[in-house]
Amino acid sequence: MTAGRALTVLSVASEAFPLVKTGGLADVVGALPAALAEESVRVRTLLPGYPAVLSALEDAQPVHAYPSLMGGPARLLHGRAGGLDAYVIEAPHLYRRTGNPYVDAQGRDWADNVLRFGALGRAAADLGRGADHAFRPDVVHAHDWQAGLAPAYLHFEPGPRPATVLTVHNLAFQGQFPAEHLEALGLPPESFTVDGVEYYGGIGFLKAGLALADHLTTVSPTYAAEIRTAANGMGLDGLLRIRAADVSGILNGLDTHVWDPAHDPAIVARYDARTIRDREANKAALQARMGLAIDPTALVYGVVSRLTWQKGMDLLLAVLPTLLDQGAQLALIGAGDAALEAAFTEAAARHPGRIAVHVGYDEALAHVLQAGADAILVPSRFEPCGLTQLCALRYGALPVVARTGGLADTVVDANEMALATRSGTGIVFSPVTADALAHALERTAALHAQPATWRAVQKRAMTTDVSWARPAMRYARLYRALAAERATQDQPR
Ligand code: ADP
Ligand code: GLC
Repeated sequence: MTAGRALTVLSVASEAFPLVKTGGLADVVGALPAALAEESVRVRTLLPGYPAVLSALEDAQPVHAYPSLMGGPARLLHGRAGGLDAYVIEAPHLYRRTGNPYVDAQGRDWADNVLRFGALGRAAADLGRGADHAFRPDVVHAHDWQAGLAPAYLHFEPGPRPATVLTVHNLAFQGQFPAEHLEALGLPPESFTVDGVEYYGGIGFLKAGLALADHLTTVSPTYAAEIRTAANGMGLDGLLRIRAADVSGILNGLDTHVWDPAHDPAIVARYDARTIRDREANKAALQARMGLAIDPTALVYGVVSRLTWQKGMDLLLAVLPTLLDQGAQLALIGAGDAALEAAFTEAAARHPGRIAVHVGYDEALAHVLQAGADAILVPSRFEPCGLTQLCALRYGALPVVARTGGLADTVVDANEMALATRSGTGIVFSPVTADALAHALERTAALHAQPATWRAVQKRAMTTDVSWARPAMRYARLYRALAAERATQDQPR
């Protein structure tokens, strides 16, 4: 980095809110650049040119052309999209298709994902080495397996290069492909080793990034520790132990403009920590909108989640009798495994007015739910960070969470001692079993039965700093250290 110049970063990802989102990765990629601007870090974000991204791109300028990028002509466009300073890979043969970025309408992975995300890594490495003369990043920051080859290309090709960081948002998704694609990806034969891109006889995109990026981060300190263990390392714990000195856990923040109960256009009554009483109107609105009995006294639990094993949704099904015995209600928005979708839909049909389920993805309804529910349930088996509990804190819906990953790092259990010392922002339970979850529901109901105490916990939740300010400072510090180290390595000797 040259002195006096702002540090520059190329962020590389397969989704970004509000352009394309399947989960928290998009929230992070969409919000972090603005927070980093406050730290004098200039971020440009490289995204695949899905139709939704290309149609949002404004002031597009071509900066680089490929006669062939993974099997077809392509261009790199620079412009603004969804509030981001963006590079977009215009490659119709890879990205011009509607629907989900990863799977087809039948839920099967797109057959050419190896090339679709290989191209993402390829373009990132090219931009990293100055494919756009106007922008030579100090750091290339790759997110998850889809961007995992970016550090690999930069590593195996000669010449000065930017520093590289890979962030693991979820170790469960690894991007594993047959070895026969090595040549099509343009990776050299010498990259196919245990220290390189080889993983269980195939090409591992995430593995490659974990092995070859200068630094690794994950999205909470607890998850950073968990993934080093055989129990939670998903086969990559050995490598993560070897690289332990290069791994940091940096908590996610929340986009506090998108998630702001004082100015949220999606809810009927806006409120802040001093006017929590106004939430009551939002609770009634949620009950009405989802078809729950309008009852101000009923404890309303909310869930906004992918419906998967990771999220412990089967445990929630198992404790529905406890929840109903309490006289509580459940409002759930989610999509995912067909069996879980069916089971929740059936539970709602059996208990009209008490259990309400919206199968599908609905951003605005998620705001209505966070503003109206009394508590938000997050019984995840593992959770790298989790954003819904951060939304819950900000909206004064008490998070009831499993003690794992980022959930353990962001919610303070309101146990007796915590309450005595005026701390505690939610309910934290472990182990992650149906019994422990049922017990957590009992504790939540007991707390709810003490309105003054509940209100005090709500206020603490709402005033917890869940913004990007602190995490952005940590990323900025990390980038500067890595860029400085890289600069010394690239010095001509
Ligand atoms: P993950 O990325 O593992 O799914 P996170 O908690 O980090 O979990 O992020 C999930 C994000 O997706 C949050 O912004 C949440 O509000 C949103 N979300 C999840 N499911 C839905 C849904 N069915 N409708 C609307 N938003 C959803
Ligand atoms: C992943 C994780 C989630 C995390 C999100 C953003 O999807 O499952 O815990 O919050 O990425 O980092």
